[in-house]
Amino acid sequence: MTAPATTPATTGTRPRHLLDFADWTPERLTALLDNADTMNQVLDRPVRKVPALQGLTVCTAFFENSTRTRVSFELAARRMSADVVSFAAGASSLNKGESLGDTVEVLTAYKVDAFVVRHPASGAAHLVARYSGKPVINAGDGRRAHPTQALLDAYTIRQEFGSLSGKTVAIVGDIRHSRVARSNAELLPKLGARVRLCGPATLLPAGLAALPGVTLTTDPREAVRGAHAVMALRLQQERMSGGYLASLAEYADHYQVNGRLLREAEPGAIVLHPGPMNRDLEISSDVADGERSRILRQVEHGQAVRMSVLYHLLVGRE
Ligand code: CP
Repeated sequence: MTAPATTPATTGTRPRHLLDFADWTPERLTALLDNADTMNQVLDRPVRKVPALQGLTVCTAFFENSTRTRVSFELAARRMSADVVSFAAGASSLNKGESLGDTVEVLTAYKVDAFVVRHPASGAAHLVARYSGKPVINAGDGRRAHPTQALLDAYTIRQEFGSLSGKTVAIVGDIRHSRVARSNAELLPKLGARVRLCGPATLLPAGLAALPGVTLTTDPREAVRGAHAVMALRLQQERMSGGYLASLAEYADHYQVNGRLLREAEPGAIVLHPGPMNRDLEISSDVADGERSRILRQVEHGQAVRMSVLYHLLVGRE
């Protein structure tokens, strides 16, 4: 089968997909976050359901493990009355040799209206967009992008400080393997924040310094100094084949987000982690559970932000 021609990235001025933030203007991203406020109001009602997506079908296709992203997308779609079909890659005909492109065409033939895709390969969500012709939301592809995670991170920071403008966000940990770091480095400067990426040299790709509003450092104290938000990243040991770190204990000694490191941050600084966490490795348990932590707030906001994204792509009115 030959791949179909690429579908336009935008419909008029409205992006057709959320694969990364390339086609998304600051105004449209702000509208997404504003709309998440409205979705949070829906979630606060006794009956947490609206008919916005009635008659539409959302397919969640996860080719890699997930708790937060999958559950929150499925709940988000159901809260807006969409039908949800959950494609289980591990129990599918992919195991009989069917290609991803053919699989997507089969699902599209069942009149799916949008796809939410997680895949271990960078670029897989773009491939699904080419084959389906339907709106596709990237729920994390390889180490490339995880745009809805960055949106809920931005939403959490914005809710805390009122605005992203002029804020400094330090992201500390395994930058090399992190799609969350890349998406935040793309998104937060578009919304007026500065991003400092920090990790050991082996986990800090120099090329990211070329992004506007982004600086790199191997010194965690320098990264966190004066920061309004400090995000710890998981050490993705499943993506490391060795040689990146001398030892986990040494890593924790230098790079763990803990009370000692947070003394460098702004007095009102908040702590974030996209999850899942390796407690007492990249973040100390007392900080993860402490008063500065907004980690569960991030989880909570995931549902409203994903409702806003689905609504924006499928209904398209702000
Ligand atoms: N942050 C995140 O993507 O978590 P899950 O892998 O649980 O979806």
